[in-house]
Amino acid sequence: MSDFPEPQPLSTHGPARIIALCNQKGGVGKTTTSVNLGAALQEYGRRVLLVDFDPQGALSAALGVQTLDGPTVYELLMGTVRDTASVIVHTESGLDVLPANIDLSAAELQLVNEVAREQALSRALRQVSGDYDVILVDCQPSLGLLAINALTAAHGVLIPLEAEYFALRGVALLVETIEKVQDRLNPSLELDGIVTTMFDSRTLHAREVLERVREAFGDKVFETIIPRTVKFPDATVAAKPITEFASTHVAAQTYRSLARELISRGGAP
Ligand SMILES: Nc1ncnc2c1ncn2[C@@H]1O[C@H](COP(=O)(O)OP(=O)(O)OP(=O)(O)O)[C@@H](O)[C@H]1O
Ligand SMILES: [Mg+2]
Repeated sequence: MSDFPEPQPLSTHGPARIIALCNQKGGVGKTTTSVNLGAALQEYGRRVLLVDFDPQGALSAALGVQTLDGPTVYELLMGTVRDTASVIVHTESGLDVLPANIDLSAAELQLVNEVAREQALSRALRQVSGDYDVILVDCQPSLGLLAINALTAAHGVLIPLEAEYFALRGVALLVETIEKVQDRLNPSLELDGIVTTMFDSRTLHAREVLERVREAFGDKVFETIIPRTVKFPDATVAAKPITEFASTHVAAQTYRSLARELISRGGAP
């Protein structure tokens, strides 16, 4: 793995580069990557907002944000709450979170009849974009209207991919969806890259999968590879980013490497 340069501190902040973390396959590391890439970017002095865009609320929970009462991203989408900043929660780890809960599962159907239904998230984020350097949107495992909202709001997409045999199944459909959004809604949307997660270097199988992913996507595949380790679920239980929970562990180091690689590729300021 190359060593990516230590990022220069920023002298000014915002407007944010918005990055959607998408893959309609479940359990590939979208939420884990949102939290830990966000935390690593923050360590480098970037102002980071994490958007929980999954009705399961896993990202909110992973940072200890209670979502039972109090407005969430759902009210912003529906326009029943208009002030985005008032919904943002400042967590102990220093990361800001736009939380979600199960209410968001209704948004998909309720937005269908709205004018500019694909732009609802974009509209909500525009208000606070100046306060952040990076906004990471943690999508749910689906390619429905919420994912389209995320891709419409975003400047770039990161695709987390679990290093296992069927990893590439469904990625063609995801890429097709990204192309449709580029064509119809958001021409400047970029595919920032593919992040290989849950990599087990001891198995030949995982290395073969990595080869196939690199054949298919070339230099879109990040050099940084996230290892499979129980430290990640452990950090989630502790409601802390890995960079805090196990700061010196290789798992934390790889997300710092991913942050440096993203910055060196121009995917984040
Ligand atoms: N590198 C890793 N090594 C080991 N376990 C991991 C790793 N990354 C994530 N996990 C664990 O795998 C599970 C799924 O990860 P995560 O929730 O990040 O995936 P997801 O793509 O967001 O899932 P969903 O599609 O359900 O939203 C979680 O229990 C998480 O703690
Ligand atoms: Mg998730």
